[in-house]
Amino acid sequence: MQKPNKRLEGQTCIVTGSSDGIGEAVAKAMAMEGANIVINYHSSKEEAEEVADWISKNSDAGNAIVVKCDVSKEDEVKNMFKKTVTEFGTVDVCVANAGLQLDHPLHEMPLKDWQRVIDVNLTGQFLCAKEAIIEFKRRGMRPEVSKSLGKIIHMSSVHEVIPWAGHANYTASKGGLVMLMQTICQEYGPDRIRCNSIAPGAIKTDINKDVWSTQEGRDGMLKLIPYKQIGVPDDIGSVASWLASDESEYINGTTIFVDGGMTCYPGFTANG
Ligand code: BGC
Repeated sequence: MQKPNKRLEGQTCIVTGSSDGIGEAVAKAMAMEGANIVINYHSSKEEAEEVADWISKNSDAGNAIVVKCDVSKEDEVKNMFKKTVTEFGTVDVCVANAGLQLDHPLHEMPLKDWQRVIDVNLTGQFLCAKEAIIEFKRRGMRPEVSKSLGKIIHMSSVHEVIPWAGHANYTASKGGLVMLMQTICQEYGPDRIRCNSIAPGAIKTDINKDVWSTQEGRDGMLKLIPYKQIGVPDDIGSVASWLASDESEYINGTTIFVDGGMTCYPGFTANG
């Protein structure tokens, strides 16, 4: 975890799906930058509260609240933003992070599992971005805290570009995020809203625990990573807090891959 800094002081960040994993690391990293944090969870209330406790003990500037919300439901997303504005006055940064995998070979994939993944990973990110843009425009510029009207960060994946057999719902959702993010950039850049994605590679979280928790799984993952290291959530937290800060002001409409080089197709090192 990085040392306390002040790059987000006076700002408020909503981080969806932040009761554990990558979202938790992003929430903590942004709190260490002095931001107020909205910790959003879907089902793990206790874990979300632990993240809030950690923030109140470790961050000298930022406060945290915990809000339950299924990001695929418009009324719940609206309510999360309403609670945030009531508590902290506005929203400056929205990290649309909540996501899930429900894996099946395509010919066996139930429609409901296709739909649920698209609903959370893609529609949920649309709903959060929409409410964030509405709030940024309502509030107007605050030059004392940021050079941008607001910042949206979509949590994507290397699978926005790498096809992945057995995961068509997941790859389709992440591929969709590319165009969502770039279109938001084009549409709202003139308002000084910055919209970018972070694409993590193999990061040790619950989503892929069945793989990295065995030696065989770890070896398989490492074959896909030129840097020969499996990532940890803090690798994403530090990039996200920088991407939300004015230090990255001119970055807009792009995906930052945080993957140890996974997108450089190491399978081709000695083949092809
Ligand atoms: C997936 C993980 C996977 C990683 C690299 C992520 O988007 O959620 O399960 O390990 O991509 O393939």
